[in-house]
Amino acid sequence: MSDSFDVIVVGSGPGGYVCAIRAAQLGLKVACVEKRGTLGGTCLNIGCIPSKALLQSSEEFEKAKHALKDHGVLIDGLELDLARMQARKSEVVAANTKGVEFLFRKNKVAWLKGTGRITAPGTVDVDGKAYAAKSIVIATGSESVPLPGVVVDEKQIVTSTGALELDKVPGHLVVIGGGVIGLELGSVWRRLGADVTVVEFLDRIVPGMDNEIAGAFQRILQKQGLRFRLGMKVTSASVAENGVRLVVEPAAGGAEETISADIVLVSIGRRPYTSGLGLEDVGVALDDRGRVKVDAHYETNVPGIYAIGDVIAGPMLAHKGEDEGVAVAEILAGQTGHVNYNAIPGVVYTWPEVASVGQTEEELKAGGIAYTVGKFPFSANGRARAMGDIDGFVKILADKTTDRLLGAHVIGPDAGTLIAELTTAIEFGASAEDVARICHAHPTLSEAVKEAALAVEGRALHI
Ligand code: FAD
Ligand code: NAI
Repeated sequence: MSDSFDVIVVGSGPGGYVCAIRAAQLGLKVACVEKRGTLGGTCLNIGCIPSKALLQSSEEFEKAKHALKDHGVLIDGLELDLARMQARKSEVVAANTKGVEFLFRKNKVAWLKGTGRITAPGTVDVDGKAYAAKSIVIATGSESVPLPGVVVDEKQIVTSTGALELDKVPGHLVVIGGGVIGLELGSVWRRLGADVTVVEFLDRIVPGMDNEIAGAFQRILQKQGLRFRLGMKVTSASVAENGVRLVVEPAAGGAEETISADIVLVSIGRRPYTSGLGLEDVGVALDDRGRVKVDAHYETNVPGIYAIGDVIAGPMLAHKGEDEGVAVAEILAGQTGHVNYNAIPGVVYTWPEVASVGQTEEELKAGGIAYTVGKFPFSANGRARAMGDIDGFVKILADKTTDRLLGAHVIGPDAGTLIAELTTAIEFGASAEDVARICHAHPTLSEAVKEAALAVEGRALHI
């Protein structure tokens, strides 16, 4: 293999591997450095894909246990085969990571196996061997934030990585942090039979999400059996053979109490990962949160070194990293890459799902923007009734003067799919009226989107 490339991408997560493929499609000679034994980064190996596999399997189990009875489908002798469920998850992960390997071969992207270190602008050292590149793209991703006093062993005190690997359903799972990871993985283990308590520092779950949606989300999860201890912080954890003893106290100060758990999941956020990359030596600047600073073209302060994905500012989402990967590849090939940060959807894959795009009501209020709201509940949607999934609603926020869509938030069945239409609408600068006038097939869940758009002007038909 030649030691000289147009582009070397460090990290093969959704940001890095997509950047490498797109750059190769555009005729550049590309290598991607990855130290993990498989390609695909956090997302494919220990993030999006394994968590969605377990969410799907646990949902099937829960349906078989409860929901199917309502449909007149009776199952005798239902059992959980957790080993099989975990094996299936691993098969799904392997199929995806091998898929990226295939795409690298197809596009002639060289996989440099090992740990990359940038030793000078234009030079990347991979386990002692130097490679030259006209441009370097940092796509090294993120890692979970540690909690002082709570030492992760990935057995009894776990991050998401350990929580995806449990070989036994815990009696009591305590989740520290009521964010996306805590609620998705808390849901998995609750469905499989664990008691789940979520300890959250703030007085609400999923900070950043539209308040009204977050409130509805919490009530639905509580109805499903998740317990919430809001406004509480964990100060220490001690591990014994029979479990973990957590000391918690009110975030605002007050009396301590202890909580016993079989497993503790620490999910209080993720932070950029740049360890061992040599950034200090080449002078690549980080911001006050350890993120690589980039300009509008994803270039760092060192010419020829770029960065994308979780390691830079913005939502830590796979599709955000992918779009940045494409943008950088196109910029490096002399084209004009661009990402519209106002139109990046976010989805929580619980059931019901929660999805949003654009601004929340709180952001609009804080920005002094006059807006109108249109809402429509799934309980008034024929298809949701037929499915037996009537929890949740669609909420659309439109500019009061121009009617332009400013934000959309959905909690309900298949919210993650429904948000695509509203993301498209925002990307195209559509008004609520535009969405309301589009013909939506009947009976589909998407009619709730149309009705919410009609409701912006008080014209919903089915409520
Ligand atoms: P990463 O995917 O983190 O990849 C970085 C890669 O770089 C890693 O493979 C690492 O080994 C490699 N690397 C680092 N340093 C070096 C080095 N010096 N040399 C060589 N290789 C190196 N996002 C969603 O959009 N949807 C979801 O459903 C979702 N679910 C998630 C579930 C969980 C449990 C977690 C933890 C995350 C989830 N995310 C989800 C977030 C998503 O995984 C990240 O946003 C995404 O993986 C970021 O992509 P990236 O390319 O920036 O970095
Ligand atoms: P998060 O930022 O979503 O949530 C962390 C939660 O922990 C917050 O509610 C925060 O207030 C709370 N917290 C912080 N410190 C605390 C403390 N000391 N004690 C108790 N609570 C505390 O982070 P999370 O869930 O770890 O996920 C990390 C990121 O991974 C997400 O922000 C998201 O970008 C990505 N992700 C995306 C998914 C998706 O798109 N479906 C799924 C899983 C992860």
